[in-house]
Amino acid sequence: MAKFEVLDHPLIQHKLTMIRDKNVGTKAFRETVREIASLMAYEVSRSMPLKDVEVETPIAKTTQKELAGKKVAIVPILRAGLGMVDGMTELIPAAKIGFIGMYRDEKTLKPHEYFVKLPNDITERQLFIVDPMLATGGSAIDAIGALKKRGCKEKNMKFACLVAAPEGVKAVRSTYPDVDIYTCALDDHLNENGYIVPGLGDAGDRLFGTK
Ligand code: PRP
Ligand code: URA
Repeated sequence: MAKFEVLDHPLIQHKLTMIRDKNVGTKAFRETVREIASLMAYEVSRSMPLKDVEVETPIAKTTQKELAGKKVAIVPILRAGLGMVDGMTELIPAAKIGFIGMYRDEKTLKPHEYFVKLPNDITERQLFIVDPMLATGGSAIDAIGALKKRGCKEKNMKFACLVAAPEGVKAVRSTYPDVDIYTCALDDHLNENGYIVPGLGDAGDRLFGTK
């Protein structure tokens, strides 16, 4: 079974509490999501492999470490996942970006895919799939499915979100047990409209000022 981790770094927790507040406007919400994503990149990349490399400092020759594993692709689930991309690329600037467009039908809560555009070498890369919200898990499951359909392996995927519901975590883990999940918070439950309680509301609307 892959990793499930709640990122309890105090800066992450503090910033997440800030954006849960319904009175926080679009500008501050967007800036803070970006900052949290940057801190998440630090945590999510923690297990990336290293190899020895020779380097000559102004003082002496020495053997040190550099990244050795697969190159990274960040895959936001549109729209709300876009809010996490810049924060992640601040730490991993060479990452390529792939896009999966998905919207959740408000009545059925079922996701609908409307756009997929991925780097050509996506199957060779370590994938960080990003979306602020993991609610029923439908969108994450379909996004992982879209990547698998194109040859990507579950073990090369990490899913990173800000807030998860227990229902969504359970659904993703039972469908794709080899995908690591990182969240900043595991909230209580979903309400009758499929929103996470207490959550932070509709992440896409709050990021982009719609509604
Ligand atoms: C939100 C969110 C996730 C999805 C989570 O997107 O960003 O993608 O809902 O819900 P689920 O786990 O039940 O599938 P939404 O469909 O509202 O689209 P948006 O990002 O364009 O606002
Ligand atoms: N999508 C959101 O943006 N928020 C939720 O609480 C659930 C799904």
